[in-house]
Amino acid sequence: MNFFDEIKRFYLTFCFYVGVVMTLISPGTWIWKCFGERKGKVRLINRDLICDWKTLIDEGKSFQPLDQFTTTLSPFVPLFLIDNPRQWKSRRDLFRYGNPHLDQRIDQLTFDVPLPSHKGDYLWIIFPIVFRYSFELIFQRKISEDEFNRIYPGLVDINRMLKRISSRPNEIYRSNFYKEILRLINDKSDGFLFVQNENFYHLNEIDQVSSVGEDFLTTLSVQCTDLVCHLLILYSDYENEFRMNFDRCFDETLRLYPLTDIWVRQSKDKKNNWIGSLVQLNRNGWTKPDDFCPQRWSNKTIDHPPLLSWGFDIRRCPAQQIATKLTKKLFLSFVDPEHFWICKAKNFHHERTFPYGCQLWIDYGIKPRHAQQWIYPNQFQMKVKRWFHEKIRMIDQYEFN
Ligand code: HEM
Repeated sequence: MNFFDEIKRFYLTFCFYVGVVMTLISPGTWIWKCFGERKGKVRLINRDLICDWKTLIDEGKSFQPLDQFTTTLSPFVPLFLIDNPRQWKSRRDLFRYGNPHLDQRIDQLTFDVPLPSHKGDYLWIIFPIVFRYSFELIFQRKISEDEFNRIYPGLVDINRMLKRISSRPNEIYRSNFYKEILRLINDKSDGFLFVQNENFYHLNEIDQVSSVGEDFLTTLSVQCTDLVCHLLILYSDYENEFRMNFDRCFDETLRLYPLTDIWVRQSKDKKNNWIGSLVQLNRNGWTKPDDFCPQRWSNKTIDHPPLLSWGFDIRRCPAQQIATKLTKKLFLSFVDPEHFWICKAKNFHHERTFPYGCQLWIDYGIKPRHAQQWIYPNQFQMKVKRWFHEKIRMIDQYEFN
């Protein structure tokens, strides 16, 4: 590589990090802003940035997990799987076993909890509702209030870090979460998802807890809540499109707001490790890439890149089917009641993560004429808080290693 290429690499890496550290947008979005429709790979100092889906697919299958850099720059669940190369296969096997059971259980569940009338952040209203359903799916019974009080604060603590509302874990909440999940596993109740699965009980204690508590309970609750929130925000602007064809809107929502921001993988064949931004990969090569345009999914013959929001290779999301089913059922149960109306705050900027919450006004009956004008308070304080926690978190997790 010649001298000028080296300089270019340093310059691009510098721009990337400065943007990540200084701006208030996620790394994946920053990559989209910097590199846009570029094709092929961009060489950074220690990684190759993959810019388009063809180059990504050409990388081929990789067994390698996401690495720590991913959680640091863009917190992502499931947490333990990301850099745990030892156990991921056995835990994926558990998924293969759990998936059809969960799929059946979702069909049997009644989704009858309406959203309360409220003007403000719905994320923390929807989260406990989804958590209760997720618990029911895993243990096939409703959660008791005592159990809720021991588990839920730990889950909120995890989600607050993912949303950059805090940057350090609350050890008491996390420890209660751990102990309660362990107790439930050891109870071996009839409805427990893995009670008949010997392989599950051969895992170490920490892997058992992490599998149930993180891979299933946390991930179901966090990911499905986020996706429902994205759908609700878009529904407030595109109600007709949603009513006409929900499936297209669902894919388009995931294209614009993938739940993962960036991927960082060790490459196979001793090539450079690579980094990819789902925000960019899902826009690069699409017409009107930033617009919500569900019609683009209507004609299968139109040539457009694939939707990458569920991953693309051997490590792609094993829960796509159940996550889709659960999210759709939840969402439809929320918007179906008669006279339901929804309006997002005028000053709310829809982002992939929810650093400012999910600011909606939802009610039933006649929509007031001034509804579009409502604004949510404390926006500036939220921005400062977000910046602070995001940066503390990066330093705390040795992102600069
Ligand atoms: C709701 C929407 C969801 C989306 C968009 C999504 C997306 C993804 C993506 C992009 C990956 C990374 C794939 C890769 O590295 O190539 C992933 C991995 C994973 N997801 Fe999902 N996911 C969702 C929901 C869930 C849910 C509800 C669960 C659990 C019940 C789950 C369990 C997992 C697991 C275990 C992995 C790690 C797979 C591995 O490392 O082999 N996901 N998901």
